[in-house]
Amino acid sequence: MKLQLVTKPLNSLTADTVVLPVFEEQGTSAVVPKNEAFTHFFKANPKFGKLNETQSLFLKDQNYLLIGLGKKEKFNSPQGPAFAKLQNWAGVAVKQSLTKSKSLSIVLPQLESLNAEQIGQAIALGTEIAEYDPVRQFKSESEKLTLTAVELVVERAERGFQEGIKKGQIIATSINYARNLSDLPANIMTPNYFLEEVKKVAKECKLKLTVLTESQARRKGMGAFALVASGSDEPSYMIALEYSGNLRDKTKWAFVGKGITFDSGGLYAKPSPHMNEMKYDMCGAANVLAAIKIAAKLGLRANLVAVMAVTENMINGKAMKPGDIVKSYCGKTVEIGHTDAEGRVVLLDAVAFAQKDFGASKIIDLATLTGSVISTLGTHFTGVFSNNANFEKELINAGERVGEKFWGFPMGEEFNEMIKGEFADIMNVGKPDREAGSIAGAKFIEEGIEGKNSWIHLDIAGTAWDSKPKSFRAIGATGVGIKTLIEMLNG
Ligand code: BES
Ligand code: ZN
Ligand code: ZN
Repeated sequence: MKLQLVTKPLNSLTADTVVLPVFEEQGTSAVVPKNEAFTHFFKANPKFGKLNETQSLFLKDQNYLLIGLGKKEKFNSPQGPAFAKLQNWAGVAVKQSLTKSKSLSIVLPQLESLNAEQIGQAIALGTEIAEYDPVRQFKSESEKLTLTAVELVVERAERGFQEGIKKGQIIATSINYARNLSDLPANIMTPNYFLEEVKKVAKECKLKLTVLTESQARRKGMGAFALVASGSDEPSYMIALEYSGNLRDKTKWAFVGKGITFDSGGLYAKPSPHMNEMKYDMCGAANVLAAIKIAAKLGLRANLVAVMAVTENMINGKAMKPGDIVKSYCGKTVEIGHTDAEGRVVLLDAVAFAQKDFGASKIIDLATLTGSVISTLGTHFTGVFSNNANFEKELINAGERVGEKFWGFPMGEEFNEMIKGEFADIMNVGKPDREAGSIAGAKFIEEGIEGKNSWIHLDIAGTAWDSKPKSFRAIGATGVGIKTLIEMLNG
């Protein structure tokens, strides 16, 4: 979408829809063009302005769209940081106008809590995120998009705005890229398809690519990954992409993604209807791919490897069976207690790969790992699990700045007992069954982390996709975590 910054006065805007910001109960003190239609409206609706509440007013040949920002004094709070509110506020404007207007003038609100760059970035993100809709991709008939240009109306064109808009667009384009990969159905988004996409990113961004096929991974000692892969007729890949943005810094980051392109549950097949959304079980891999793409495009001064463990979890004659024992790349033996707990099994090898082969010492993995995290946190918060309290805090704070919500779980030694194996070192399902399920999953992955390294596991099972559309975002994958990963690299 074309985004332009303008400093025109309110009464000279020519777009066919003009978006006006209104704080809750601001009434007639809202900045609107002089016209009695507005006076009437605010007299009749003095409380108007709840966050993302909308009202259209048609005046002569222009349409005005009032959108609420909520209470002014609450616009920035830990419960609802200003950045996310502004992003989604712009998203509401664009999503509503996509098929109704040709051009949009968005009058930006005056905000003390954000600088010009943050405002530009939030608006660019909101605009682009609102534009993508997976439902348009495969329907033979869908409403035509009419919106082609958005102008942002500001009082003074401070320099930070342009910079922010540019960054926001780069980040949003990659977030939408990840969303699209995730939304593709599993018959199209196979491990082969994913690998082709990684190759394109590697070429476009000049990143170093390492690919292990299933048999290469097995020969290298990745018995855990290979065991999950063995149940699928599709080829599977352990993939690493490297970006070096700071040759003087020895720190190597790793973003590790669960890339199960379809999770049937294995022999303990998921009952209907729990299987139907399992094309999304590769959102972690898609999101780390997007993150490294952004890091390269922004030229961030950091060194990073993105590791993606990509396979289906299926049930052919070679599929893993309960009781199977394999040796993981981290050196520990793994016993399969449950064939549906495959994510942690492939991640165990993936995090070992990041450390052993790429020297990563700051590791963040993203995985749609457990249904249990949805029971605990619902769909607004991502679960955070870490072996380093400061690192964990940094991530939660980074998320707050860019409007992504995280909640920390305990990871004390008392939980170690849960994942002890009966015959092997560790078991991929926690004991007792159904207790602290998300922590058991995290504890299992932690077994692959060398003690000296800092690690965070993000369980995005509840946040990786929306099952219903939002006013600022279509149904489907959300790209959760990408903004926060970039914010972490920015330091
Ligand atoms: N991919 C699922 C987790 C999941 C469930 C993600 C629902 C998103 C929505 C994962 O592989 C899984 O099946 N986990 C099991 C683990 C259990 C068998 C220990 C679960 O959560 O039930
Ligand atoms: Zn599973
Ligand atoms: Zn899974």
